[in-house]
Amino acid sequence: MSKTGTFYGIGVGPGEPGLLPVVAWETLKCCHVIYIPRASSQDASTAKACLPAHSIPDERFKEIEFDMSKDHSVLAERYSHSAKEIARQLRQGLDVAYLTIGDTMTFSTFNYQLQAVREACPEAPWRVFPGVTSYAALAACTGFALGEGKERVQILPCPEDPGALQRAIETNDIVVLMKIGRRLSMVVALLESMNLLREAVFGTRVGTTEAVCLTGIEPLLLNPAYGYLSTMLIRNPSPRPL
Ligand SMILES: C[S@@+](CC[C@H](N)C(=O)[O-])C[C@H]1O[C@@H](n2cnc3c(N)ncnc32)[C@H](O)[C@@H]1O
Repeated sequence: MSKTGTFYGIGVGPGEPGLLPVVAWETLKCCHVIYIPRASSQDASTAKACLPAHSIPDERFKEIEFDMSKDHSVLAERYSHSAKEIARQLRQGLDVAYLTIGDTMTFSTFNYQLQAVREACPEAPWRVFPGVTSYAALAACTGFALGEGKERVQILPCPEDPGALQRAIETNDIVVLMKIGRRLSMVVALLESMNLLREAVFGTRVGTTEAVCLTGIEPLLLNPAYGYLSTMLIRNPSPRPL
């Protein structure tokens, strides 16, 4: 009987092809099956585009289409379905990788997939390789220091309510704002009212050929159209003491 294969979680990108740890890349090249998530709204997998081009035979990749459903029962059903398929492959002795954008465990649906695979195949070994978060990639390309000394840094999925965002900015030195989406014009208007447009950096599709990175976000007053796959880093020069 063959030995059970290993399940690997591998963070890639978040945009630039080849931006992944060497040890993760060496492992990935040896995997028999590689799952790549693809948003149902997109034609191609962003995760696959983050790999060095043409370095792994196409037949090893399997796409998993996902939509952005917030319904937990729908999501649980979907992850359990793919986990059963992955468990069958692991029991055949195949090593299986699952790619995710940026860091594997940071706001990543990979975490749900990992739990489902561990339930479906508890005997299989697993390993998760960390990746480069989108905010680390943005900080690097804009030269923005993500915390110095004892500065307080808060990572926040963009709230709907401008008041909630204002409170987060007022009580931190730096706010990392993710999942901005259609709320971008609200964020820009708030930062203008707080006189912080020059204290923020913004990146959309960082690392890709379509990337837009701004140091100072005044240009977004005229064109707040880049919400999807966007991250912002906001520095508050005078935070309120806690
Ligand atoms: C589901 S979360 C994934 C986070 C990811 N695991 C990470 O480590 O950054 C999606 C959010 O990540 C950010 N993001 C992902 N890719 C990005 C990119 N290439 N440029 C800027 N932001 C990105 C955006 O804030 C987006 O709304």
